[in-house]
Amino acid sequence: MIEERTGAGRDGALSPQALYDETYENYKRFINPPLARLMKLSGSPVEVRASGTTIFDHDGKAYLDFAGGYGVFTLGHAHPRVVAAVKSQLDAMALSGKTMFDPLVGRLARKLAELTPGDLSISFFANSGTEAVEGALKLARAATGRAKIVAAHDGFHGKTLGALSASGSPEYRLPFAPLVAPVEHVPYGDTSALAVALVDAAAFIVEPVQGEGGVNVPAPGYLAQARALCDAAGALLIADEVQTGLGRCGYWFACERDGVVPDILVLAKGLSGGVMPIGAYIARPELWDAAYGRSPLLHTSTFGGSPLAAAAALAALEVLHDEDLIANARARGAQLLRGAQRVAQAFPSVVREVRGLGLLVGVELRAEGYAGTIVPEMLKRGVTAAWTLNRRRVIRLEPPLTVRASEVERALDALQAALGAAYDKLGFLGD
Ligand SMILES: Cc1ncc(COP(=O)(O)O)c(C=O)c1O
Repeated sequence: MIEERTGAGRDGALSPQALYDETYENYKRFINPPLARLMKLSGSPVEVRASGTTIFDHDGKAYLDFAGGYGVFTLGHAHPRVVAAVKSQLDAMALSGKTMFDPLVGRLARKLAELTPGDLSISFFANSGTEAVEGALKLARAATGRAKIVAAHDGFHGKTLGALSASGSPEYRLPFAPLVAPVEHVPYGDTSALAVALVDAAAFIVEPVQGEGGVNVPAPGYLAQARALCDAAGALLIADEVQTGLGRCGYWFACERDGVVPDILVLAKGLSGGVMPIGAYIARPELWDAAYGRSPLLHTSTFGGSPLAAAAALAALEVLHDEDLIANARARGAQLLRGAQRVAQAFPSVVREVRGLGLLVGVELRAEGYAGTIVPEMLKRGVTAAWTLNRRRVIRLEPPLTVRASEVERALDALQAALGAAYDKLGFLGD
């Protein structure tokens, strides 16, 4: 029996401790018991509100958000222009009636066609990254008439069955086998293996920088070579920019680092400025025609393409441009990368390497065990950070693109203290 609760408002009807207890209990009993226990052990508080780069917990303590919702909060939390756009659209119409044209959804697709490289121009809107990846994989199959998908080891594309099949972590895939076949995985960065795998493939799906795989930045030219190999094999190139896109890596789209135009580009996370869920793929028109030109209802979504998400995304894209956030991502990213490398030099037995591009920075530890101490120690010092899903010995630092130089320094101080605390507590754990 679920107890009746009264006055359990989000913001103040309960004492801070009672709010924590109630929330933890609900997670432990009704959401994900083992994860709830793990989060409690890691010292995770209850989030209550957030603004800019800061999240406030149930006790009113402020945290600089360097986990950034795993890349969602490119504009920080609750950017006023995005919130205002959403509030005003909420009064007009929230979800699409689906039987009529929607002006905002149309404008968003047009804007994405203008912003994305080359002739990418037809958008499909979904509600998450994994859904957008599903759409991209289906489009590739239908357009080419081929089934095989090539993907990279350690890549991450989402957790629905199709996207999971392309993801590179056996840990997440194996319990659900058999997955969607045929998918072949090749080492990230290895163009010889890619050339072999691409025979008869519909597409190669790849992240321009692997996020969840441990912030792996390929050598410049990798994507350009992959583009050439796909062309030679008659396969499509799908750039999964769910995490790297929209300024995160210091480019509008990280594939621009190599001057590459993919056939399909996938976006989600930051697209609506951290206020509404959204996902999208943007494709070359001839692919869309080949796949769906005669059957336009083959791939659809009830909630995808809502006016509310479109209003948020249009405002978010304007803010990215008007506040020059991509330049800030480059400048603050360079500061964060250099700073973390400097801090790490004092702890060679804890940190193996610090790497990144723009404001996606990974701290690779010598043993996974350190991460379980470093992330909570940073949290104690008022900074959130997170490990990467496919490589838990890599801690990611992924703050909003609005982050200021002084906030980067505060995060670096917290990292330094946390590395020290981890070494004091655990000593040398080996490689
Ligand atoms: C590169 C990439 N693709 C796809 C996804 C899946 O997105 P979502 O969690 O919104 O389904 C993620 C999520 O981290 C991602 O990083």
